[in-house]
Amino acid sequence: MDPAFSSLYLRGLMGTFNERAEKLMEKLSEIADNNTEANMLQLVNCVTLDVIAKVAFGADLDLLSNNSPFPKAIEVCLKGMVYQIRDSLFQFNPKNWPFINEVREACRLLRTTGAQWIHERKTSMQNGEDVPKDILTQIIKTAATEKNMTEEDEEFMLDNFVTFFIAGQETTANQLAFCIMELARHPEILDKVMKEVDDVIGMKQEISYDDLGKLIYLSQVLKETLRIYPTAPGTSRDIPGDMTIDGIHLPGGFICLFNSYATGRMEKFFKEPLKFDPDRFHPDSPKPYYCYFPFALGPRSCLGQNFAQMEAKVVMAKLLQRFDFSLVPGQTFDIQDTGTLRPKSGVICTIKHRKYKN
Ligand code: HEM
Repeated sequence: MDPAFSSLYLRGLMGTFNERAEKLMEKLSEIADNNTEANMLQLVNCVTLDVIAKVAFGADLDLLSNNSPFPKAIEVCLKGMVYQIRDSLFQFNPKNWPFINEVREACRLLRTTGAQWIHERKTSMQNGEDVPKDILTQIIKTAATEKNMTEEDEEFMLDNFVTFFIAGQETTANQLAFCIMELARHPEILDKVMKEVDDVIGMKQEISYDDLGKLIYLSQVLKETLRIYPTAPGTSRDIPGDMTIDGIHLPGGFICLFNSYATGRMEKFFKEPLKFDPDRFHPDSPKPYYCYFPFALGPRSCLGQNFAQMEAKVVMAKLLQRFDFSLVPGQTFDIQDTGTLRPKSGVICTIKHRKYKN
């Protein structure tokens, strides 16, 4: 499936990125006024899920105002997948059965939602209504002609639905939360990126596609975040036949695992690897080829890479433009591994309106 994430298509998404990020700013403004604490991971999760639901499937969830079972369902599905991959006997241990039931329930929720949204869209298409040229339409068109749809085609559509629903949301939210956490820990980097945002977008509310290209240091900060915290920490590829790479023999029939968490933290590739240093990604610095691959590499790499980084930049730029944030003391900086990586603490912050110097 090719959802054509062309730059023309992505430009067209700026309105949705701005609008949904703006809702987060309203929420943060309320939090600042009421002097309460913000769970940044939870909040950015709402934004990224809102965005993917709107952009990919034409659904308005408005999660910052409404409660929804989707974020929890996504988390449980991912956990279920990882536990099963890491321990093939997991499902046979009666101790795990209550959790397995929870995973089944979560999968059912996502798939029934997918089936309902697909059905509604197909009905609109059959009635000749104007439908958005989004991922849902693409999924339906790709799955074959609607008249002779087999059960397999239906399942294929649902698989694609769930892939986008999960892949298009959680990883970006976790990246944003890690980024906020690291900026709060590094005041000098925070100052520098805030200054860039002030210079590029100043006080204006609507961020344009062209503005994003000028937020160079913010890009570096986001890249460095994914080096230390690759939110999708690895991938695998089948080795179809014997091959030798750089003198190392790989026997055919095996599966190769690639761990971007490990390579991102290796001294061999990155000096002082645990230091958060966005200048590693300065445009003039040597490119970290084949040791930095948070979106995987090659033909099956992440389809939503540019989408994700545009979305992340819009959210971060607005946050930096409007608010000062600091971490509530006593939090852990541990990583929670639920298949994707997320900050265990939730990144709890106090938020203040920024005071502008004349
Ligand atoms: C920081 C954010 C993201 C990260 C770190 C990330 C990472 C990845 C990685 C590592 C893969 C490859 C998996 C593999 O090789 O098996 C992947 C695949 C994929 N991603 Fe992302 N992703 C992000 C955001 C997104 C977004 C926003 C979307 C959709 C709008 C998306 C859609 C996809 C899809 C559809 C695939 C499957 C591609 C295929 O199988 O050909 N991702 N992603």
